[in-house]
Amino acid sequence: MDLFEYQARDILEKHGVPVLGGIVATTPEQAREAAEKLGGGTVVVKAQVKTGGRGKAGGVKLAHSPEEAQARAAEILGMDIKGHTVHRVMIAEGAKIAEEYYFSVLLDRANRRYLAMASVEGGMEIEQLAVERPEALARVAVDPIAGIDEAKAAEIVQQAGFAAEVADDVAAVIRKLWEVYDQEDATLVEVNPLVRTEGGAIIALDAKVTLDENAAFRHPDHAELEDRAAADPLEAKAKELDLNYVKLDGEVGIIGNGAGLVMSTLDVVAYAGEQHGVKPANFLDIGGGANAEVMANGLDVIIGDQQVRAVFVNVFGGITACDEVANGIVKALEILGDKETKPLVVRLDGNNVDEGRRILAEANHPMVTLVGSMDDAAAKAAELAAAK
Ligand SMILES: Nc1ncnc2c1ncn2[C@@H]1O[C@H](COP(=O)(O)OP(=O)(O)OP(=O)(O)O)[C@@H](O)[C@H]1O
Ligand SMILES: [Mg+2]
Repeated sequence: MDLFEYQARDILEKHGVPVLGGIVATTPEQAREAAEKLGGGTVVVKAQVKTGGRGKAGGVKLAHSPEEAQARAAEILGMDIKGHTVHRVMIAEGAKIAEEYYFSVLLDRANRRYLAMASVEGGMEIEQLAVERPEALARVAVDPIAGIDEAKAAEIVQQAGFAAEVADDVAAVIRKLWEVYDQEDATLVEVNPLVRTEGGAIIALDAKVTLDENAAFRHPDHAELEDRAAADPLEAKAKELDLNYVKLDGEVGIIGNGAGLVMSTLDVVAYAGEQHGVKPANFLDIGGGANAEVMANGLDVIIGDQQVRAVFVNVFGGITACDEVANGIVKALEILGDKETKPLVVRLDGNNVDEGRRILAEANHPMVTLVGSMDDAAAKAAELAAAK
């Protein structure tokens, strides 16, 4: 789960990372009040959207008085930044910046490590810097067990080439940022810019934090960070039903058992759909013991997707036998009744397949087409989705 900057700011503050005062506002008037609360001096009005490049897009603006903060907020609220509408701004205390640095720590899946990155040339163009002058961005592997201890922080600071006057202070902030990463179960903590102010303080002026949702059970407090308003309604419904569902932009709904099978189903449907101009509409893994209720819930979510024109149910009977799955499909169709209005292509294989196919054939549901192979079923589903 990606956090908004203001949420990340709060978490950083909780762990003792130096940040500046920041107050969220959803209207220009609130922005003025926030600027007053922060002392009435210079503030920065910052668009709160979960995408980068806000500054470049005009979503980060300086204001020298509360009135100006109100005016800037009026401009920024409602703006579209890379497809994200700005519903909130953060009014942040203005810093007198002497230097801008970069620091991040993230999950490096390929190397089964964490990776810390740091640069003395932070600011808005870090991606460009990484491409054009990779040597200016230090990359230091972090052992997940050892973490960023004093020695590791010193190594990061040294490799990035921080000046001796700031090295210790930066290292101390890096260790606090590691604490955030570790204790909050984050997969990304990125601070760009980490600044040195004219007064010599090291402060995190911007923060991106991604939390690992698999660790949510350890953090009941993380639930309230979820942006429910922005959640896709179908994904929200699927989550409530405890389904493993991801909405995609396509016309062929997909249900399968096992993440690997569903992933390859997406591939064959994408391939088969090319000539018909249709694509997979979702990922949905109903898991091992797919009973009728789970099947009905899955179908219900997929049928609720306005874009879906046909559904491909791809089941491989392993521990769960095909006859149970077939019964599940038949019962699911009963449960859904008149709601089931989209053609269903079913491919069954594996344990007890003959009995499973017999059950479906006997049920002879008008919306169901039984197909023998995965490729043929994908082609049929794509064809049906294109025809409607
Ligand atoms: N509180 C502040 N005081 C003074 N200047 C600031 C403050 N916050 C941001 N800035 C300036 O604005 C620039 C852009 O801000 P920020 O890093 O938050 O947005 P961004 O980098 O454009 O957004 P993103 O990180 O989403 O790409 C910073 O590099 C910094 O120079
Ligand atoms: Mg930034």
